[in-house]
Amino acid sequence: MNTQQAYDIWSDIYDTNINKTRDLEAKAIREILSGKTFKRCLEIGSGTGKNTEWLITKADEIVCVDLSEAMLNKAQAKIVNSGVTFTQADITREWDFAEGEFDLITFSLMLEHIEDLQEVFNKAAAHLTTGGYIYIGELHPFKQYSGSKARFETEAGQQIVTCFNHHVSDFVQAGKKTGLALVEVQEYFDDDDRTSVPRILTLLMRKNDG
Ligand SMILES: C[S@@+](CC[C@H](N)C(=O)[O-])C[C@H]1O[C@@H](n2cnc3c(N)ncnc32)[C@H](O)[C@@H]1O
Repeated sequence: MNTQQAYDIWSDIYDTNINKTRDLEAKAIREILSGKTFKRCLEIGSGTGKNTEWLITKADEIVCVDLSEAMLNKAQAKIVNSGVTFTQADITREWDFAEGEFDLITFSLMLEHIEDLQEVFNKAAAHLTTGGYIYIGELHPFKQYSGSKARFETEAGQQIVTCFNHHVSDFVQAGKKTGLALVEVQEYFDDDDRTSVPRILTLLMRKNDG
């Protein structure tokens, strides 16, 4: 089963099944971006709109992009707002969906499905205003090292979505090569227990002048 097929099926229960990763990342993005407002946001891998609902309170316009039509359908059923548009696309192909520049580009729980981080960073940086931000919220690599993966239950058993391990330095270096400076790194833990393995890694990067 490829990633698109997996999310088309997962969409039925994505919002309702128990999913600590989904919920903790929702908390993370709201904290990391809380003090900021934006004109145009590109939300990559927007899924069922878990974060779109909040991002539209922070940005005038949001362009949502996702590989899975079924995930997008769930989001469109929830979010009726003239400032939000939805496009089905695979971000490993041409970025025809991204017209002009954005002052915020977000990747929530989606870069683990992308093998070539640098290619995506290159495209994102090309669509970012000077001074614009890239927010990344991912399943923490430490969780991945201990075997965690994007997975869901079906009647036919557990389905695991194709994932790639990216180290913290992979994100930072891919950003640096495209002129992005690291603004903030945070780690989020189950029940705020900092003696446990962190579940979510967030990185906030900003495009430098020139
Ligand atoms: C775990 S979900 C996260 C959804 C949402 N951002 C959230 O935090 O709840 C990952 C999403 O990334 C999308 N995705 C995976 N690979 C993609 C690709 N190559 N292009 C666009 N979207 C992709 C999937 O369809 C899915 O909706």
